[in-house]
Amino acid sequence: ADPDPLQDLCVADSSASISANNFPCKPLSEVTSDDFVFDGLRKQANFTDPFGVTVTTGNVLSFPGLNTLGIAMNRVDIEPGGINPPHSHPRASEIGIVIEGKILAGIVTTKNVYYSKVLTAGQVFVIPRGLVHFQLNVGPKKALTFTAFNSHLPGSTVLPLNLFAAAPSIPVEVLTKTFLVDEDAVNNIKSKFVF
Ligand code: GLV
Ligand code: MN
Repeated sequence: ADPDPLQDLCVADSSASISANNFPCKPLSEVTSDDFVFDGLRKQANFTDPFGVTVTTGNVLSFPGLNTLGIAMNRVDIEPGGINPPHSHPRASEIGIVIEGKILAGIVTTKNVYYSKVLTAGQVFVIPRGLVHFQLNVGPKKALTFTAFNSHLPGSTVLPLNLFAAAPSIPVEVLTKTFLVDEDAVNNIKSKFVF
C-alpha cells in the first residue's frame, strides 16, 4: 500500500528532524550490512499488557532498513487465554503464520459480517487492509504468530484503547451514549486501562 521506492536503498536516517511519507535516506557511505538485518523479533519483548499479548513490531521505526520498501513484520506472543484485541491497520493488509499454539483468528467486515477460523502451526491467514480483526489463544500453551504487512508503517488502531484509553480522554458522555450504558459501566472499563 506504500508508494514505490525511487532508489535501491533508503535506510531511514533516524536522526533527521523531518518526515513525510517516509524518512530521509541516510548517506549511502554510512549504510552497512547491519542495516538490512533486525534482531528485534528473536525474542518476546518484555512488555505485557492486560490482554495477555505482546506485539513486537518490526516497522520502519524499529527497523530503519525497511524505509520506503512497503513491508513490515510483527511477532505476536499470546499467553494461554490471552487475546490480541480487536484492532485494524489503516495502511496495510496483513498476512500471518502460526508458529506454535492454537488461535481463533477473527475478522469483521464493514458490513459487520464475522469470519473466523481456529488455526494451528503452519497455517497462514490474511486480513484485508483496514478490517477489524483479533487473535484469541484457544490452546493450553503459549501461541506464537508472525505477521507481515504491505507498508513500512501499517499503524494499528486498537479499538478498546482508542475508545477507553485515549489521552486526553474521550468525554464519558460520548461513551455512555455510544454503548447505551451508564457512567459506572464506562468508568469500570476505563479503570482497567490505566497502565
Ligand atoms: C496481528 O494482528 C498483528 O497486527 O500483528
Ligand atoms: Mn493485526
